[in-house]
Amino acid sequence: MLIKRLYVQNFRNLKEQEISFSKNLNILIGENGQGKTNLIEAIYILSTTKSFRTSKKEELIKWGEERAISFVEVERDESTATLSLEITKAKTKFLRNEEEIKRDLSTLTTVSFFPSDLEIIKGAPSERRRFIDKLIVDLYPETLSQFFAYQRALAQKNRLLKEPHQNLSAIEVYNKILIDNGEKIGELRKAASSLLTESSTRELELLKSPEQTLNVVYEPSFFDETKMKAELSARVSLFGPHRDDLRFELGGVDSRAYASQGQTRSVLLALKLSSIKLIEEKRKTSPVVLLDDVDSELDEKRRSSFFEHISSSDRQVIITGPRGRHLEDLPGKQLHIQDGHWIKH
Ligand SMILES: Nc1ncnc2c1ncn2[C@@H]1O[C@H](COP(=O)(O)OP(=O)(O)O)[C@@H](O)[C@H]1O
Ligand SMILES: [Mg+2]
Repeated sequence: MLIKRLYVQNFRNLKEQEISFSKNLNILIGENGQGKTNLIEAIYILSTTKSFRTSKKEELIKWGEERAISFVEVERDESTATLSLEITKAKTKFLRNEEEIKRDLSTLTTVSFFPSDLEIIKGAPSERRRFIDKLIVDLYPETLSQFFAYQRALAQKNRLLKEPHQNLSAIEVYNKILIDNGEKIGELRKAASSLLTESSTRELELLKSPEQTLNVVYEPSFFDETKMKAELSARVSLFGPHRDDLRFELGGVDSRAYASQGQTRSVLLALKLSSIKLIEEKRKTSPVVLLDDVDSELDEKRRSSFFEHISSSDRQVIITGPRGRHLEDLPGKQLHIQDGHWIKH
């Protein structure tokens, strides 16, 4: 799939404008603070309904304005669809082909790459859960409802646990829902981890990494009677997929604890490249690849083999970075930004 054009109005610092993209590589260049990440955010939010920078949608509205819009036309297999988001302080409206819908995570699928993604390897377990859950939904969009059902039941149960007089039988009902749904989510995470293991080892080889294997190990948080009793006094849920973790073993060694900076980047590149290839395999279409300022994160060797492998004739890539680096030499459509305004170069 690919983004044909994007229209933004009052989206952060971006000037009202329409931008058309090439079907392969798009290189977006500009100095700091001009609005490169804002543009990536305007695209990302249409594919996931969430921003990667804020949970408060009104922050996306240009200061002093009432309403922000981000709109894309997406092409897949010669048919086109539009997605748009209209954000006001009161409400966020999401539309597909001009019709209001609740959410849609499959018309536009993106695999993004931000410098902050290093947290997937080194940060808290929630970062790894978010990564694997997004991949699961990108691979199997129909599983989204399971995640929502789980989140809803978990919120209800936590509310009950916090009440001064805990209603044990109501908690019990939610425990059943959570255990059922939690098992399904656990199976999905386990299966996705195996897919990642298979594919990442291949990617490491392509990236010419000195480490030969990357094992993605799913670490479930098991339910047991003691935990169930303990939660009554802790007043918060203590088991279930919201406590799961993943372990990335590079050459048999846990990356979170031991990987060097370079190795951390190799693991991340292998995971992202794997995500792209797995989506292509399962969905029979390419995700749009978004790379925000990652050039600065990579050393010479990793950079060239990464760009070599990410570029493909039937994959759209949108990459941002500052002037005067290697980006300008890549073959692709170049756009330059100044003060929220993009111009074709
Ligand atoms: N809601 C908003 N309204 C207007 N400007 C904003 C808003 N949110 C952020 N900005 C401005 O956008 C600019 C940052 O854009 P960003 O896309 O992060 O830059 P970069 O090109 O470095 O990626 C900053 O100057 C910031 O002040
Ligand atoms: Mg930026």
